[in-house]
Amino acid sequence: MPELVVVTREGAEKTLDAVEGVSIMEVIRDNGIDELLALCGGCCSCATCHVHVEPSFMDKLPAMTADESDLLDGSAHRDAYSRLSCQVTMTDALAGMRVVIAAED
Ligand code: FES
Repeated sequence: MPELVVVTREGAEKTLDAVEGVSIMEVIRDNGIDELLALCGGCCSCATCHVHVEPSFMDKLPAMTADESDLLDGSAHRDAYSRLSCQVTMTDALAGMRVVIAAED
């Protein structure tokens, strides 16, 4: 089972067991980290699941859709490593990836 490392807004680092085929948002939420609100439930319409991805993993992620990019444009905290965690599916290639939950907008 691949692991996902999550850093909370307070800086706490947690290593989570991630099931392949589910979104990173679901991995984080299902492990009780409720500061990732994910209000739309993964429909790519809220941007409250914003995370910053470890730079070395960026090229292993699925391509960003125009909808995801438009939503991220609404965040004051977007950077080159921003993704909506509901749009990234966990795979073995992402094992050990570290993501930081973005500041709240
Ligand atoms: S959960 Fe709403 S955009 Fe990801």
